[in-house]
Amino acid sequence: MPRVFSGIQPTGELHLGNLLGAVRNWVEDQHRADSFYCVVDLHALTVPGEPGALGRQTLDLAAALLACGLDPEVCTLFVQSHVPEHTSLGWIMQCTTSFGELRRMTQFKDKSQGQESVSAGLFSYPALQAADILLYDTDQVPVGEDQRQHIELTRDVAERFNARYGDTFVVPAATIPRAGARVMDLQQPERKMSKSTSGDAGIVRLDDDPAVVVKKFKRAVTDSLGEVRLDVDHQPGVTNLLSILAASTGRSPEEVAGAYDQYGPLKADTGEAVVELLRPIQERLGELRSDPGAVAEALRRGADKAGGVAAEVLERAERSIGLLPRR
Ligand code: TRP
Repeated sequence: MPRVFSGIQPTGELHLGNLLGAVRNWVEDQHRADSFYCVVDLHALTVPGEPGALGRQTLDLAAALLACGLDPEVCTLFVQSHVPEHTSLGWIMQCTTSFGELRRMTQFKDKSQGQESVSAGLFSYPALQAADILLYDTDQVPVGEDQRQHIELTRDVAERFNARYGDTFVVPAATIPRAGARVMDLQQPERKMSKSTSGDAGIVRLDDDPAVVVKKFKRAVTDSLGEVRLDVDHQPGVTNLLSILAASTGRSPEEVAGAYDQYGPLKADTGEAVVELLRPIQERLGELRSDPGAVAEALRRGADKAGGVAAEVLERAERSIGLLPRR
C-alpha cells in the first residue's frame, strides 16, 4: 500500500470547502493507503493567534476530522507537536534548504504582505512542512493546488539530500484532488472558500445549523444571465452551486446542470443537499464534543503510531548528515 501523508492547520473551524476539497478524499484514501493525517499545530504558530487558544482549536479540529469519517483504527491521526521528531527534522531541513528557495514561495509572499511583523517561522514554514512529509517515507501527498509549490520544494530538498548524503528519504509526489471539488466562496465566487479570506456569509461551516445553511445558499451570489450552465469564467457563482450540488449528491456537474434552468430551485436544492451531507457529521460531532477524553485518547494512540515511524526516519537522516549517534 502506498504511504499517504497530509496536514491541516488548526486555525479555524472546518468548512464545506475543506470537507469537499480535502477531507472527503482523506476519508476515501484511508482504505486504500497507509495514511497519516496530521493536525499541524506548529505551523499554526507561525502567525499570531489568540494566546492560549491553539490547544482547544487542535482538539476541536481533531473531533471534526473524526466526525467526517477518519477512523483512528484505519488511519493514523495525530497532532504534530506530539511527535517532537517533526521539529528535529525540521531544523535539519532548515539547514538544507536555501534562503533563495524559501524566498520564492508564493504562500510566504501572500501571508507576509502587509503584516507589520513577520515571524522567522513563517519564512521557514516550508522546511518544517518538508520534514512532516519526509518523516513518514511518504509516497503521496494529497493537497490543494495552493500547496503544489511546497511539495515541489520538498521533492527538491529530498533529492538534493539523497544525492549529497546518500539515499535517505523517499521522494514524495503531490496528488491534487479530482476536479469539481474546488469549493468557492458563496459571496465572492471567484475566490476559494477559505476561513482566512471569507466573510461568514460566504462560508458554510461544518456545524452551521440547517436553517443557516439553507439561508446562505439562498443568498449565494449568482449573476444576471438567467441561465444555468457550467461556465467558470462567465458564471462562477452558478458553476460553484452546480459543483457543490454534484459533489454532495455523488452526481456529475454536467448531469446536475442539465436538471435546472432557474437559480431559485438550484439554490434551494443545493442548500438541502448540503444539509443532508452535513447531518450525520453534525450528529457525530455532537457526540465527540461531549466526550473530549475519547478524542484525546485517539490522538494519543495516533502519536504513538506516528512516533514509531518518525523516530526511525529521523535517526536515518541524522546518521546520513553525520550527527553523532547517542548510542
Ligand atoms: N501547508 C499546509 C496548508 O497550509 C499544511 C501542511 C503542513 C501540510 N504540513 C503539511 C500539508 C504536510 C501536506 C503535507 O494547507
